[in-house]
Amino acid sequence: MAKLFEPIQLNRLTLKNRIVMAPMCMYAVHKEDGELTNFHDAHYASRAIGGVGLIFLEAAAVSEEGRITNQDLGIYNDKQTVKLTKLVNTIHELGSKVGIQIAHAGRKAEDAPNSVAPSALAYSDAYRTPDALTETGIEKIITDFKSAAKRVETAGFDAIQIHAAHGYLINQFLSPLTNKRTDTYGAQSLENRFRLLKEIIEQTKTVYTGNIWVRFSATDYDINSTTLEEYDQINHWLKELEVEVVDVSTGGLLPRKPDAIYPGYQTKFASHFKEHSDLLISTVGKLGDPDLANYVLESGQADIVSLGRPLLRNPNWAAAAAKALHDKQFKPFNPSYGRGFDE
Ligand SMILES: Cc1cc2nc3c(=O)[nH]c(=O)nc-3n(C[C@H](O)[C@H](O)[C@H](O)COP(=O)(O)O)c2cc1C
Repeated sequence: MAKLFEPIQLNRLTLKNRIVMAPMCMYAVHKEDGELTNFHDAHYASRAIGGVGLIFLEAAAVSEEGRITNQDLGIYNDKQTVKLTKLVNTIHELGSKVGIQIAHAGRKAEDAPNSVAPSALAYSDAYRTPDALTETGIEKIITDFKSAAKRVETAGFDAIQIHAAHGYLINQFLSPLTNKRTDTYGAQSLENRFRLLKEIIEQTKTVYTGNIWVRFSATDYDINSTTLEEYDQINHWLKELEVEVVDVSTGGLLPRKPDAIYPGYQTKFASHFKEHSDLLISTVGKLGDPDLANYVLESGQADIVSLGRPLLRNPNWAAAAAKALHDKQFKPFNPSYGRGFDE
């Protein structure tokens, strides 16, 4: 059996394969109420029918003002939670596990009347200058994450992914480029910059009993930002906090792109963390070629492959990958789908 299709045992959770759907905002909440729509239900259910092992729902904001845009999903009220619970049950019925990414946009909130960040530094000229969070403001953020985690528990999600990547609020605290604070959440030490994420995880653990993932950007593409060695230390702390999986992405803190984006361009960072930490490592980024996705697992560079755009292009990516890798054991959710992959 190709490694891509080997089950993997997480705490209290077995995934039937190592294919994970990466969180991807659909910006489709047109009523601006943060609630799932029929589109979302069909979108995620299709990927379950397509055989994905674990589906992460897109970034769901922990508060109304923490949304990137007004079309984002939210996880801050009961109506949202009722709809999320229903989708969790549907995905389970269709044979996949399901998680959700929880997030606060910080200075990258585009539609809120005001935005907040560790320090009053704008992302770019196109964005407003955020207010530097007060200590009370930080307390509210932590409480919002905790309440969201409680809703993740209520809805029955198998995993939670705390969004510490792509330049959103937690990433802004982690980086010395965006965190110029002088308090205990401030820039004087890595421990201080990590404190917000640490306290969010601690609070999450008091209300959520499933698997905890953290997604971070291993590089902000600026030599003066958080270093790989600092992330080694952060991973050590994450392990102590009983985080189980780290999903290794890059970028988003600053309005700049990597010099080259090629298949597997972020896997070298995943591979570094696989070598330097005891966490399970998920790699993401242009891994849509099944041979490449399988190779990064077979060669021990990562434990799990997260896919974004390949699953937008093809909800049946897993079946297509099984065919390409000559894996005869792959069982589509509905046997008739197998006919679509016959010679
Ligand atoms: C439409 C779209 C929306 C995205 N939204 C999110 C998101 O909500 N949270 C997140 O962490 N990453 C988000 N991403 C990044 C993806 O999760 C993924 O890391 C990125 O697309 C690279 O993987 P890929 O080459 O497999 O697409 C988004 C990407 C796309 C294409």
